[in-house]
Amino acid sequence: MQKLIFQTEPSYPVYIGERITEELCSCLPKSYKRLALISDSNVYPLHGERIKSLLEKTGATVFSYSIPAGESSKTHRTLQDIYAFLCECGITRTDALVALGGGVVGDVVGFAAATYLRGVDYVQIPTSLLAMIDSSVGGKTAVNLPQGKNLVGAFHQPVAVMVDPTFLATLPKAEYRNGMGEVIKYACIADEKMFDALRGGNLTVEEMLWRSLSIKKYAVEADTKDTGVRQMLNFGHTLGHAIETLSGYSVAHGEAVGVGMVEISRYGEEQGITPVGTAQAISDLLSQYGLPVSVQYTREQLFAAAMSDKKRKGDMLTLVMLKQIGSYALVDKRIEEL
Ligand code: GLY
Repeated sequence: MQKLIFQTEPSYPVYIGERITEELCSCLPKSYKRLALISDSNVYPLHGERIKSLLEKTGATVFSYSIPAGESSKTHRTLQDIYAFLCECGITRTDALVALGGGVVGDVVGFAAATYLRGVDYVQIPTSLLAMIDSSVGGKTAVNLPQGKNLVGAFHQPVAVMVDPTFLATLPKAEYRNGMGEVIKYACIADEKMFDALRGGNLTVEEMLWRSLSIKKYAVEADTKDTGVRQMLNFGHTLGHAIETLSGYSVAHGEAVGVGMVEISRYGEEQGITPVGTAQAISDLLSQYGLPVSVQYTREQLFAAAMSDKKRKGDMLTLVMLKQIGSYALVDKRIEEL
């Protein structure tokens, strides 16, 4: 088992390793009297009861709850249901929530933990590749509004994260590909060796998780509240979000980010920031992992849709571009320039 300590306020361990959930008891930072295990209708039938039994070994009384699977559950309505469940179970400030699932479960349970009784502890047990390398760490929690994704949320760090690749065995292939889009992103922004290893297909899943999480750790520690360096993690996201919006979310996040990385690198090449050939190299790697490299929208359509990006600052937008594979630059652009 490998361990990364995220040095935020408060700090917390991220454990990585096959079957580490079996050691759950010893990985919880304190002993809790009550635990609320929250999962979804896809994951709970596969793993819920096993995790519940493991949590019970800590001596806690464990209550379980399942939300309907899918992005449509990331709402205030689900939050209300979770709050009601927590009240029913008598969860107090010295108890904890456990999020077992992908990004939707992690984000909504994290936000419930951030707000219930003005903040209680929560543990993340991510089961999708995307959640393992991104959403379960770093403390971003949120629900969606009809007007857009993640528009209401809070920064609330988990007390521990357990990244167990064993869960990936039951992950649908399309979901795995989706996560690979973000893995490739990490290689592009900060790890040229990882990029080469992915190209050579000689990176173990555990190493891929560790390297991705190490980059995330650097960004989160340097800029927990996402006002500077952490924005490096948004490489491909400005245009990626535009693709998600234009497609009515029929293009998955990791796929959209992949195309966004290619498009912004082409733009970077034209601007003289990114070395020529970079976009092609990224495109080739995405194809190798079964990810799309183009969409039917024009660049004009993509930039127009990107104008409503929630990260826009007045009439400025910070774009993440590559100086080369493994090295990024944050470039502020006036909207009219785009
Ligand atoms: N998912 C990007 C971030 O955590 O900042």
